[in-house]
This record gives sequence, structure tokens and C-alpha cells, in this order.
Amino acid sequence: MSVIGTGYLGATHAICMAVMGYDVIGVDVDPKKVQKLNDGEVPFFEPGLPELLTKALESGRLRFTTDFAEAGEFGDVHFLCVGTPQQQGSEAADLRYVDSAVESLAPHLRRRALVAGKSTVPVGTAARLAALIHELAPAGEKVELAWNPEFLREGFAVDDTMKPDRMVFGVTSEWAEQMLRAAFAPVLAQGVPVKVTDLQTAELVKVAANSFLATKISYINAMAEVCEATGADVHDLAEALAYDERIGGKFLRPGLGFGGGCLPKDIRAFAHRAEELGVGQAVGFLREIDGINRRRRARTVDLVVELCDGDVQGKRIAALGAAFKPNSDDIRDAPALDVAATLSRMGADVVVFDPAAMENARRVHPELSYGDNAIDAAHNADVVVLLTEWTEFRELEPAAMTAVTAQNKIVDGRHALDPAKWRSAGWEYRALGRP
Ligand code: UDX
Repeated sequence: MSVIGTGYLGATHAICMAVMGYDVIGVDVDPKKVQKLNDGEVPFFEPGLPELLTKALESGRLRFTTDFAEAGEFGDVHFLCVGTPQQQGSEAADLRYVDSAVESLAPHLRRRALVAGKSTVPVGTAARLAALIHELAPAGEKVELAWNPEFLREGFAVDDTMKPDRMVFGVTSEWAEQMLRAAFAPVLAQGVPVKVTDLQTAELVKVAANSFLATKISYINAMAEVCEATGADVHDLAEALAYDERIGGKFLRPGLGFGGGCLPKDIRAFAHRAEELGVGQAVGFLREIDGINRRRRARTVDLVVELCDGDVQGKRIAALGAAFKPNSDDIRDAPALDVAATLSRMGADVVVFDPAAMENARRVHPELSYGDNAIDAAHNADVVVLLTEWTEFRELEPAAMTAVTAQNKIVDGRHALDPAKWRSAGWEYRALGRP
């Protein structure tokens, strides 16, 4: 098989497939990424993946190239794993990478093969790509297109690829289904359920799932806003709700809200696509979900300002976390960096530390200062603000911080700390939605 695009999704998929015993060729237009991967280096942070890359390369079943002709010749199944970011100046998904992957690959498809899209795309894209492939591929209609959305979470990408909750096969023929079943035989052998459906349903499953998750997070964060106005505690509220199995506690963690390369842009692209289709009203609530989520960032900034007696100008703020979530170095639409950058624009002297995302953060926000570790970042801080719930931040001892900060004030943007512990150590502790 070939895997087109070697970002978080594609690299993980290519490596896991080779480990499971398939012959895999990974393709990317970026020669530096290809070189790194061939040298055994994963170009991003993902627990467990570097070890598997080494194993896959040693097996001789995996290689990476920039050559689409080589991939076209090699693969019986070609997985499309390129990114679909938000368009500049629009909420729509930017499909240029998907289109160009298909345009580069299709002219090299000279025999019967399956192209399986994994990228998150607006519904209707697969049908358009199928027509494009039939037009451009020398094998014409012998090349089929399927849609096989990916649900992997960064930080758990290996597990989510090797043993997903479910697989979705969007197909237009029995043959395409059999090809996908063959391509995932070791996964399916573990009893992973498969939903076989049409192309458009498969495309929709992904955005519907991410919209639901985003809605759950914004729902509890909306409750946090109400708690703030009433003195109630959203943390207790969420715990009480979670005992109801119909509601469940997952994705019901209140705080700074969601970010990353998926949820924010997926709900926007979905709302945009629904409007194009004339059913915008049906998912109009997604704009509200986005709005609630953005307000969490603003409210976190407000809490820091409050702790600085109304003015952050010249105040020293320690920002713990930059990645959009722990166990990731991904800073795409990261709430943490958004808060840090806003405080800096307001005149604060912000020192950031993140265990994995420092290089990425520095590249995008060179105006911020960076510490060597949490304690270093907190040196002389007027306020400490916890923005990404890395374990090492959860385990911070108040006494160790007291020894270096100028004032003992902390905003816990992720409800990651024990308020009683910090308060009894003499800290002014504030968290969104908590008294
Ligand atoms: C998400 C989906 O989970 C995955 O299935 C899909 O394929 C891609 O998008 P990912 O972006 O890796 O995965 O992150 P996820 O673990 O879902 O977290 C998303 C964001 O929500 C993070 O910023 C996280 O901090 C936040 N979050 C999550 C909350 O604020 N509260 C929660 O209860 C859960």
C-alpha cells in the first residue's frame, strides 16, 4: 500500500501498517520530512511512534519517497492522508492538498487499484475526487475510490490506529469493501466493528463525531459560565452529571476548551458546508459551540487580569503549557498559546514553558519568552497560569513554586490542580467556573 501525506495521520498510519506486516511506501512532497522518516526520525511528538518507526524500517517493509510515480506503481491500495486545514479568510476547509495529492497520484495509476481517502473532507468531496481519478488515471474506472475516515487522537495515535473503536468503510462496490477488509485484516481480526456505508455517509461520520465531541466540551463550558455567575462549582457539576451513563464523563472536562488541528476547523468547515447545501440551520448551533469555546480563552485572560488588579502591563506571567493538549507538540489553534499571546499583546511579560511544544511555539510566537522548565518560567512571576494539563504540571508542589515566584497567585485553566492544597499553601487559586 501507499500512504500519501506523512503528517500526524499519514506517518502514523504508514508506520503502523508496516508493523502489522504490509509493504508500505509513504509519500510526501516535503523532501526534508521524507529524509527524516527514512533516517528513522519521527518529525513530531507522538508517544510510542519512534520505536515503531525503527522496527518498521528494520523490517524492510517501509520506505518513504517524494516520487508519486513510484507510489503509483507500487500500491494496490493508496491511502490519502493529507491535511485539510481551514482556508485563510474563510471557515471552509482548504482542499488544495487533497486535490493536489490526487492530481499527482492518479496519472500513475495504470492498473486496478483502490484509492482510500482518510482525510477529513466536506461531504461531497469523495464523489468529486472519484470523477477526477477516473479522468486522470490511465486505468480509468478500474481505479476505485473509497472513504475510510480516521478517528485517531494525538497522543494515543498508535493505539487508535492499531485498535480503533470502529472502522468506517465508505464504498461503491463489493470489491472496494473486500480490498479494505484485506488492508485492515489484522485490525479486524481483533473484533473491531466495521460500518460499511456509502461515500457521503462515511465523510459525514467524521465531522459528525468531532462536532458531537466539541458540543460536549462546550456544553460543560457553558455550564461553567453559569456557575461563574452564581458561585456554583462546574467541577462538581460535571462529576455529578458523569454518573449518568447516558451522559458519561468523557469529553465533559471543563476548562480552557478545545483546540488542535481537528475540532475547531472541523466544526467550522461543517457549518460552512451545511450552509452551501442549504441546511445551515440544522447545524447553526455549531457557531454557538465555537463561540462558547472562544469565550473560555477570553475569560482565562480576564482571570489573570483580575489577579493583576486590573492591569497586566509590565506584570510577569508564567504560562505553563503551549500545546493544545498534553502528550502532543501540536500548537495548531492551541488555547494555551492563544492566552499567552493575548496577555503579551496586553503588555505582560509572558514566560512560556511546555515539555514538548517549545520549538513549535518559538517559531510561531518569537515575541514570547521561554523558560527551561516550569520552575524557571515561574521565576519572579506575579501570576502563574496553567494552560495545558501535562502530568508534570499536575504534580507541581506549591512550595517549590512559592520559592521562586514574586506572588502566590495561580489560574488553573484546566482544573488540573487540587485547590485545597494550593490554598492551604498560601496561594490565591482561581479556576474557570469554580468559586
Ligand atoms: C480529535 C478527536 O478526538 C479525534 O477522534 C479526531 O480524529 C481528531 O480530533 P485530537 O485533536 O487529537 O482528536 O484531540 P482530543 O483529545 O479530542 O482533544 C481536543 C481538544 O479538546 C483538546 O484541546 C483538549 O484539551 C480539549 N478537551 C478534551 C477539553 O477541553 N475537555 C475535554 O473533556 C476533552
